[in-house]
This record gives sequence, structure tokens and C-alpha cells, in this order.
Amino acid sequence: MGNRIPLLLFVLSIFCVTGKANSLPRASVRYGPTENTGTTPHLQEIFLGRCWGFQQLWDVSPEVDCTDLWEKFFGAFSYREPCDQTASSYDPFFQAATLETPMNRTLFWSGTNALAHLYSDEGRRYSTLEDTLPGHVLNGLRWCGSARAPGYNGTVCPQCQNRPFWPEASKFFAQRARGDVFLVLNGTRRDASGNPEDAFKATSIFARSELPSLNKAAVSTIHVWVMHDLGVNQPYSESCGKGSLRQLDQILSHDGFRMICQDDPPFLRHQQCVDAPNSPVCVWSSATSKAPKQTIYNNVLFLILLSIVLYL
Ligand SMILES: *[C@@H]1O[C@H](CO)[C@@H](O)[C@H](O)[C@H]1NC(C)=O
Ligand SMILES: *[C@@H]1O[C@H](CO)[C@@H](O)[C@H](O)[C@H]1NC(C)=O
Ligand SMILES: *[C@@H]1O[C@H](CO)[C@@H](O)[C@H](O)[C@H]1NC(C)=O
Repeated sequence: MGNRIPLLLFVLSIFCVTGKANSLPRASVRYGPTENTGTTPHLQEIFLGRCWGFQQLWDVSPEVDCTDLWEKFFGAFSYREPCDQTASSYDPFFQAATLETPMNRTLFWSGTNALAHLYSDEGRRYSTLEDTLPGHVLNGLRWCGSARAPGYNGTVCPQCQNRPFWPEASKFFAQRARGDVFLVLNGTRRDASGNPEDAFKATSIFARSELPSLNKAAVSTIHVWVMHDLGVNQPYSESCGKGSLRQLDQILSHDGFRMICQDDPPFLRHQQCVDAPNSPVCVWSSATSKAPKQTIYNNVLFLILLSIVLYL
């Protein structure tokens, strides 16, 4: 083995040198909102890239023409004043972009953006609006029109009274739900000043756009999952049968839907625990008995590494 060690060092040093030569260009990554509040730079390229990428990933057939979709989308707001948008101006875009969601797979969320999307797994487990073609293509982007060329404002988008895109997207999405539908709510929701808010919020997109758009002939049961943050102790003022959840139950039964409510179902609780494994509610009794497996795993890893070194 003696003569192999210089070889190993040689290989490692080549790795270091080439690693340095290929180092990434110096660019800083900023997380969070940027100062620019205008239309997202490269909006068209992002739109087209996401649109073709989505269809490639999901094997969409027949294919949707992304260039045509872009023209329908851009036509809805460009060469107009920034707040001059109506819900119906986006309809040609939604009609062309909205695909069917498989039965029993529609997942709504309100106040649980991150958790609902972790769980939906980009449409593999469930499909949220952001996992559908129109939602995926525009998620997290900003745009507004300008009456002058180039037709949009790249520096400032004002706060408009009427911003119809997401409510309209939600309407098209909800209208196509079939079978059982699912809703993830936040039982420990707070507003910007820290005051408790309803889990089922009357002003939410779910309450205003999605719920009224559900097709009563196609949807029968609504499974409501009320999630509570790990650090917040019981009793909860917002949970199944209490607070706004009682109100939701009344609205749904009045509309002829069946509501099945569950507080902190384990499959969602486990998702929360991924980032906080030491939180008291995340320490399940079976977790401690798994320790020996860790050692076996380490031994296997050591053997693999040793055989790589010996091979060299
Ligand atoms: C949808 O869910 C219902 C109720 O659980 C079930 O009876 C039905 O078979 C499901 N359909 C599909 C296509 O999974
Ligand atoms: C619930 O809302 C709070 C505050 O509004 C937020 O910090 C928390 O992440 C939300 N919980 C979930 C599960 O999304
Ligand atoms: C963008 O909006 C700002 C603020 O309203 C305005 O000063 C600017 O002229 C607009 N740009 C275009 C291209 O319309």
C-alpha cells in the first residue's frame, strides 16, 4: 500500500488545483426582497424556461405552446397603466394554461405556505396552485404594465387596489378540483404586529376565491388539517371544532360539503420536525432505540472509504 499513498496525494492535489480554477464567478446572492420593486428582471425568460421545464418534467400531452402562453399573459397587462387590470384580462391565459388536476390531489393552503409546499412535493404527493402550470410559471414573480414602451415598468410597481392575478388563478384551480380535497391551515397564525389571527381567515384567497369556486357536483369531502407551530403550547384557541374552524364547518355544511378536521396530523407533524428534531413533541419514544443502527452505518461507510483508498 506504501506506493499508493503518493498517488492518492497526487490525485487530491489535482482535485484542489482544478477545484480552484473552476471556482464560481464572484456574485453575491441576496435572500429576501430586493430594493427593485418593479417587474422582475428577465420575466419573459423565467416564464418561458419554467413553462417548458414544467412540461418536460411532467410529460404534458398535448404540449402547451409556451410562446403563445407568454403572449396571452403579457397581453393581459402590457401597454396599460399599472393598476389597469381586470380579472377577465387574464382569462385567455388561464384557459390555455390550466390543466386538469388528478382526482383527490388538490391541496389548498392558507397561512402555511412553506409547510404545504414541502408536503405537496411539487405535485408528486398533492398539487397546490403553485404546483400547476400557471402557478409554477409565475410563483414569486412581480409584474406591472406601463402605457409606454416597453409596455411594462421595470423599476416601480405601485400597490394596486385591485390585483386580480392570484385570485383569478385560484378560481381556475379550485374549479377543477375533483373528489376529496385537502386544506392546510395555521392554528397559530399571527398578523404582522403579532396578534393572533383566525386559522380560517375571511379575507384569505381560500375563503374569497377558492371555496366559492369549488364544484359542488365534483367535490364532496374537504379534509382540513390544522397545524400548530412546535413552540406554541396547548390549549390552542384555533383548532378543530373551535374558533374559526367551527365557522368553517358551518359554511361547508351549509354548502353541502362534508368537513373532516384533524389537528396536527402526524404526516405533517413529521415535516415540521425535520427542522426541529429536538423539540419535545418531535422526540418519539422509538427514536432512542435506533442508536445501534447508526454504528453499523458508520462501519459500512468506513469500509467503503477504506476500499476506495486501497483501490487507488
Ligand atoms: C378518491 O378518494 C375516494 C375517497 O377516499 C375514493 O373512494 C376514490 O377511490 C379515490 N379516487 C381515486 C381516483 O383515487
Ligand atoms: C403559522 O403562522 C406563523 C405566524 O403567522 C408563522 O410564523 C408560522 O410559520 C406558520 N406556521 C406554519 C405551519 O406555516
Ligand atoms: C415606472 O413608474 C415610475 C413611478 O410611477 C415612473 O416614474 C416611470 O416613468 C415608470 N416607467 C415606465 C417605463 O413607465
